[in-house]
Amino acid sequence: METPRIATTQPAVLSLEPGTYYWCRCGRSNTQPFCDGSHQGTSFTPVEFTMTEKKQVALCQCKHTTTAPFCDGSHKRL
Ligand code: FES
Repeated sequence: METPRIATTQPAVLSLEPGTYYWCRCGRSNTQPFCDGSHQGTSFTPVEFTMTEKKQVALCQCKHTTTAPFCDGSHKRL
């Protein structure tokens, strides 16, 4: 199994509007923490998630979280 690239070792804390988002799982996107299609040619696909209300979230950018797309603190163990 391929290992994701570590985009950076801190989460992206963002205030997201309601809507559908695609979190980059591969770590190659230039528009972190969201997918920009750079996963093409890898075994990775983005994680779709939906926000039903405006909310501040911490999105994983180390790509090692077990609660994707949200940060679970895994970046502290890398
Ligand atoms: Fe990383 Fe799409 S660019 S999952």
